[in-house]
Amino acid sequence: MERSLVLIKPDGMQRGLAGTIISRLEKQGLKLVAIKMLKLDKALAQRHYAPHKDKPFFGSLITSITSAPIVAATFEGEGAVELIRKAMGETDPTKAEAGTIRGDFGLDIERNTIHGSDSAETARREIELFFSDDEIFDYHRGTGSSSY
Ligand code: RTP
Ligand code: MG
Repeated sequence: MERSLVLIKPDGMQRGLAGTIISRLEKQGLKLVAIKMLKLDKALAQRHYAPHKDKPFFGSLITSITSAPIVAATFEGEGAVELIRKAMGETDPTKAEAGTIRGDFGLDIERNTIHGSDSAETARREIELFFSDDEIFDYHRGTGSSSY
């Protein structure tokens, strides 16, 4: 089953949106299998965003993601990566459609409220950075799509 890493970024935490966003993804049918609150140190932030290390915005990205505590979660489900990317909307909240998380809650490209893995392979790398195997849970959650 596919997994994706979700982070509620500092701007989302500051506006009290963690519960709302986790709830939206849960209601969409995605299964929450790991969750924690933490303050990223610079080293972990740099590893997480390593693919962007040569981009001009890398410094400010690291500063903002380490500026306050965040909530990290792992969701599981068929097509979880794509479903969450769709639910998040475009990176730039001014371009994200209404009804998406960034469209509804994002302020600007540096305060876009949520991170979600961009591929199943990226998700595996990112989830390992945030969660050990024994912090990821296996339990039954009905999808509502099978017979009653
Ligand atoms: P994320 O990794 O946080 O889920 O966001 P994303 O896939 O939609 O976008 P990505 O290209 O991976 O960029 C990572 C984060 O860097 C910040 N960014 N700033 N100033 C800029 O031009 C710029 N471009 C990207 C955003 O906060 C973005 O979420
Ligand atoms: Mg990304």
